[in-house]
Amino acid sequence: MARKKIALIGAGNIGGTMAQLCALKKLGDVVLYDVIDGLPQGKALDILHSAPIENFDAQILGTTKYEDIAGADVCIVTAGIARKPGMSRDDLVGTNAKIMRQVAEGIKSYAPNSFVIVVTNPLDAMVTLAKQVTGFPKNRVVGQSGILDSSRYRTFVAQELNVSVASVSAVVLGGHGDDMVPVRSSCQVSGIPVERLIPSPRLEEIEKRVRNAGGEIVALLKTGSAYYSPASASIRMAESYLLDRKEILPCAAYLEGEYGVHGYYFCVPVLIGAGGVEKVVEIELSPQEKNAMEQSFAHVKELVQVMNKILAGS
Ligand code: LAC
Repeated sequence: MARKKIALIGAGNIGGTMAQLCALKKLGDVVLYDVIDGLPQGKALDILHSAPIENFDAQILGTTKYEDIAGADVCIVTAGIARKPGMSRDDLVGTNAKIMRQVAEGIKSYAPNSFVIVVTNPLDAMVTLAKQVTGFPKNRVVGQSGILDSSRYRTFVAQELNVSVASVSAVVLGGHGDDMVPVRSSCQVSGIPVERLIPSPRLEEIEKRVRNAGGEIVALLKTGSAYYSPASASIRMAESYLLDRKEILPCAAYLEGEYGVHGYYFCVPVLIGAGGVEKVVEIELSPQEKNAMEQSFAHVKELVQVMNKILAGS
């Protein structure tokens, strides 16, 4: 069987980390694309030099030509600018929408059968645009947001209780913004509801930290945003698709009535397998959580409107 082909559009910190993860996990051949000549080629060559040490045989190609993504099974898009301290994800919308439009055209032309995972911020708007421009069906365009946000929730709860992260299950749903929704009612530690283990005021602090975790990293790094964990989250989605794992993962999916949302991308649990987003899974939410989801959705809607206005005027 021929190796799968994974196209990474954007060779910044997330793109480079994802290329290395693809190689280490033996997911397939990698094409690392960027508009900055030298950057994708340099990173690809560097990773390739680790092949004899890490014992992988995949091809890692760095390129500035869209033709090289031809026939890709998966395209993961990180192209665009990242936040600087003091910026919200939404502040990136104008610049990144123009970049995303070009990227989506490239994918449509050269990888028309691929499964597309969007990572560029502001995520909920960028994944919407990727679907609009490619015209791909909803099962083949999805956004990475909730795996990362949920992973942060699990990390903080595990730290608080001094237990393994493997014993903590949790999901964060809604938009990938400051009003994302950590779903406390479904957070469990080895089957025990988290509310029985951590007092409510402390949980509120933890959830606040989850919502601001991306910003916390931007403030520390000063020159960009998180990349190790976003790369891991995105590769987890690609892996579930390529290996038909049928994992249920929180991702930004195009909703048509689920969770009361019509015609927008919103992060909810979805099943990812060989058919792409095969199913949206509806979980029960408390009245407070439902309310928080509505607020988060109002924000996503507004963001998409802002993006559409910017694009109409350009
Ligand atoms: C974050 C950015 C990557 O949440 O959205 O860190």
